[in-house]
Amino acid sequence: MNTLTIDIRMAELQDAHAISAVHHDAWMGAYAGIIPHRALLRMVGRRGLDWWQGAIRRAANVIVAEIGGDVVGYATLGRNRARELPQQGEIYELYLKPEYQGVGLGSRLFRDARNRLAGHGLASTVVWALEDNIGALSFYAGLGGRDIAEGVEVFDQKALRKIAFAWE
Ligand SMILES: CC(C)(COP(=O)(O)OP(=O)(O)OC[C@H]1O[C@@H](n2cnc3c(N)ncnc32)[C@H](O)[C@@H]1OP(=O)(O)O)[C@@H](O)C(=O)NCCC(=O)NCCS
Repeated sequence: MNTLTIDIRMAELQDAHAISAVHHDAWMGAYAGIIPHRALLRMVGRRGLDWWQGAIRRAANVIVAEIGGDVVGYATLGRNRARELPQQGEIYELYLKPEYQGVGLGSRLFRDARNRLAGHGLASTVVWALEDNIGALSFYAGLGGRDIAEGVEVFDQKALRKIAFAWE
């Protein structure tokens, strides 16, 4: 019997291609019908191999979820970017390939990201999610996130509300 090992680790340069594929599939799955099609294609198109290689080289803030040697999810994290919010750390993005969603991997990636932020002295965490991304809202609320702020993001003239969840 083969045992599939699950590993959450820092991204390495050679992961860039796989992360770019996860990004593509997860964003198309999560945002088709929410973010206007052309804007979504543009955003996904920008995040190819070069972009991810640059991100991994520039900052040690990309982690990946690997199953049986395949990268199936990623998260990016760092200092909170919203000056009006007091939380110290932020998970900027957390995405899984659609076929690996719903089996607990997102929760593991989230916990690992929070532990890493805390390890860097960033004890409290904020995450933003689009209000129309119902799955993400349930996910963050289920993990104990407190709904603390709202904002708006505009995509090709379509304004979409976003919600910030916080953990102290
Ligand atoms: C959101 C996401 C990261 C969650 O990871 P996941 O591995 O699928 O979630 P888990 O299996 O760890 O689920 C944990 C809890 O979250 C909730 N949840 C997760 N996805 C959900 C969904 N689509 N709809 C409703 N609830 C959901 C469930 O309540 C689940 O609790 P349970 O264990 O009692 O069933 C993942 O589904 C994903 O990548 N989705 C698409 C991209 C996305 O929306 N990313 C977040 C952007 S802000």
